[in-house]
Amino acid sequence: MLNFNFYNPTEIFFGENQIAEITKAIPKEAKVLVVYGGGSIKRNGIYEQVSEALREFSWGEFAGVEPNPTYQTCMQAVSKIEQEDYNFILAVGGGSVIDGSKFIAAAANFSGESWDILSKGAEVTAALPIGVVLTLPATGSESNSFSVVSNSGTHEKLPFASVHVQPKFAVLDPQVMKTLPQRQLTNGVVDAFVHTMEQYLTYSVDAKVQDRFAEGLLMTLMEEGPKLVSEDVDYKVRANVMWSATMALNGLIGAGVPQDWATHMIGHEITAMYGLDHAQTLAIILPRMMTEQKEAKRGKLLQYAERVLGLDITDEDNAIASAIELTEQFFNSVHMKTRLSDYGIGEEAVNKITEQLERHGMTALGEQQVVTLEKSSKIIRESL
Ligand code: NZQ
Ligand code: ZN
Repeated sequence: MLNFNFYNPTEIFFGENQIAEITKAIPKEAKVLVVYGGGSIKRNGIYEQVSEALREFSWGEFAGVEPNPTYQTCMQAVSKIEQEDYNFILAVGGGSVIDGSKFIAAAANFSGESWDILSKGAEVTAALPIGVVLTLPATGSESNSFSVVSNSGTHEKLPFASVHVQPKFAVLDPQVMKTLPQRQLTNGVVDAFVHTMEQYLTYSVDAKVQDRFAEGLLMTLMEEGPKLVSEDVDYKVRANVMWSATMALNGLIGAGVPQDWATHMIGHEITAMYGLDHAQTLAIILPRMMTEQKEAKRGKLLQYAERVLGLDITDEDNAIASAIELTEQFFNSVHMKTRLSDYGIGEEAVNKITEQLERHGMTALGEQQVVTLEKSSKIIRESL
């Protein structure tokens, strides 16, 4: 196992009717800015629950953070904070609202050009405290220190990370998933699955706890994912998927192990250029990444085939081919498409996305930095 420092200070309130707990979790003297998205929370009762819990607080709201949150929208929230003196952010939404809130929290305390946080990796040394009411399990953003923000002017989608934007608490009530459209449920299952793979499917460092924990998450998502997108969903299914998504990217399974993230980096460029949902891009790239990297990832691919998929691995090449095939079939089983052409994207995308990768310095991706531009280009071509 590699050396690591594991610190995750996000307090979790999990279960039905837990939104009311924010009354105790937010400091009494706080002036709270509630940040949310396009308004789904006004149609499903979450906004009312939040307002009720904030009855005794001084608070205001900022609406309109879009899926794949933009720098431009976030900066409007920063102006509001400056004008009205908020000192606590409550993000009520999915990964986009949470990521946007993280950037807002950092930019509100940043002296200098805030875009540099994303484009130049300028260090974030302080941020407003953030609390979260999660409405879409997928990204794990509610319990990690990462954020991804897009620039609508330049079609760039860039990440940043800072301990200062790690949420102080997150409410996870599986009942909020009732109003999620099937597309978002599908996205959530696939994103959580690929997060686990990015930290598991690398090379072994004999980290048994992390490996077995990751295998448990993959198996749970494969078992519960198809149930979640079927007609009859019960609370237990929602609860298991929601907790899996948080555990997949709260730092635990990634502690002390090599991490990949090449699929994500290529996926972000596809979203920035073509507007596909984040998880849609991952389902397209991952199977081709697995094939391209099958020698470098041989040991872990066999472990995945045997322990997660229950395959006989006597014929190793055959087992690896089946494991990749079954992974793509799993995506299809939760109604996720796995080809660029399924979204009307053709040949011209190969060069465009490759050029964007080069522009962002993504020229040696993966846990061993062996995914060169040439390989990325091949992966994209094979994903058409
Ligand atoms: O805008 P609202 O009205 O809230 O509607 C949203 C949005 O249209 C809707 N929705 C959310 N909760 C709902 C609901 N509709 C009905 N009922 C509910 N309970 O769902 C739509 C999509 O929401 P979004 O937040 O965009 O989805 P998701 O959670 O998948 O977040 C995706 C973003 O997170 C980033 C992605 O790149 C993307 O920008 N990621 C963040 C990560 C992180 N911070 O660790 C890691 C990930 O790999 C990822 O990159
Ligand atoms: Zn993701």
